[in-house]
Amino acid sequence: MKTFNIAVIAGDGIGKEVVPEGIRVLAAAGDRFGFRFDWHAFDWSCETYARTGKMMPADGIEQLRPFDAIFLGAVGHPSVPDHISLWGLLIPIRRSFRQYVNLRPVRLFEGIETPLKNWKAGEIDFCVVRENNEGEYSNIGGRLYEGTEDELAMQQTVFTRRGVNRVLRFAFDLARTRKKHVTSATKSNGIIHTMPFWDELFQEVSSAYSDVHTDQYHIDILTAHFVRHPDWFDVVVGSNLFGDILSDLGPAVVGSIGIAPSANLNPEREFPSMFEPVHGSAPDIAGRGIANPIGQIWSGAMMLRHLGAPEAADAVESAIAETLARSKVRTPDIGGNATTKELGAAIAAIVSGK
Ligand code: NAI
Ligand code: MG
Repeated sequence: MKTFNIAVIAGDGIGKEVVPEGIRVLAAAGDRFGFRFDWHAFDWSCETYARTGKMMPADGIEQLRPFDAIFLGAVGHPSVPDHISLWGLLIPIRRSFRQYVNLRPVRLFEGIETPLKNWKAGEIDFCVVRENNEGEYSNIGGRLYEGTEDELAMQQTVFTRRGVNRVLRFAFDLARTRKKHVTSATKSNGIIHTMPFWDELFQEVSSAYSDVHTDQYHIDILTAHFVRHPDWFDVVVGSNLFGDILSDLGPAVVGSIGIAPSANLNPEREFPSMFEPVHGSAPDIAGRGIANPIGQIWSGAMMLRHLGAPEAADAVESAIAETLARSKVRTPDIGGNATTKELGAAIAAIVSGK
């Protein structure tokens, strides 16, 4: 029987509560579709940091390298500055493993209330493709004259032809499997070196995909269109910063942050890819067993698709849709009083087909 070797980093807060539900549902999918998982847990987290002064061991990346994929919960604790937890764990994994695509689907489900009026399930269905390795999130920069009147801070944005082209190509390839439409986020009127470069490469790459319809918007009006015209989009591609913002706004317009999934992909499969919900460790509700596990479970479905088990991925996604549309088993964030475990078990039962 095919076995997938998965590194599991549950992390902090509700990460520890939702990851077991993701595993429960994926295991049910494996039983039904004829494969199994070998889960290997790593206790890397802010708790580990408090004990050892490091988010992960010095050879952490080497330890993760042999796995087929990484299944991550959430990392972050109020006692540790967020830039330490992020740059000590998530960012090194994304960069060392060339996970240059951060893919976040945005879909309006039946049974989920959206802050937008008059939209029905199925009418909003697009993907945000965020550049995940370079751009605005670089560690090139520094400070001068700290603590004085002359203090200054600088941070360099880095766009490379290789880095921009590969994420654009991913977006166009993805569009070919969907509605054949790519929207690019830009700001070439204000950011006059890197953004015109991005726009030029977008033109260049699009000429190789004449079957794909394209448009582009400055990021400011694009955020407004996400709210006013969410049905305009199919695949939306943006730099690290713009993609980060759009990929929180997208899930927000279709309902709870607790259901939004993401994939950090190395499309060439030279390294493991990483699958994690969009939400963080939610310290405000951690430890109460009421976190919504759907973001984690849906991230698991994205992992199945990446591992080459599309029927199993479809089964998990339909079980999520069916539960949201018809089941009374709902966590408080989506209007019920079920626990994390009850919702995970309800979805697993549908996936099992029992
Ligand atoms: P958050 O996503 O943890 O929480 C935001 C709000 O959404 C909270 O009110 C929370 O209760 C609610 N929420 C989030 N996930 C939920 C779920 N599954 N079910 C029900 N309600 C849910 O974002 P916040 O508060 O900004 O960050 C908390 C910590 O998480 C910080 O340390 C931050 O750095 C970290 N973080 C980590 C991420 C990651 O590991 N990829 C991503 C985002 C934040
Ligand atoms: Mg973010």
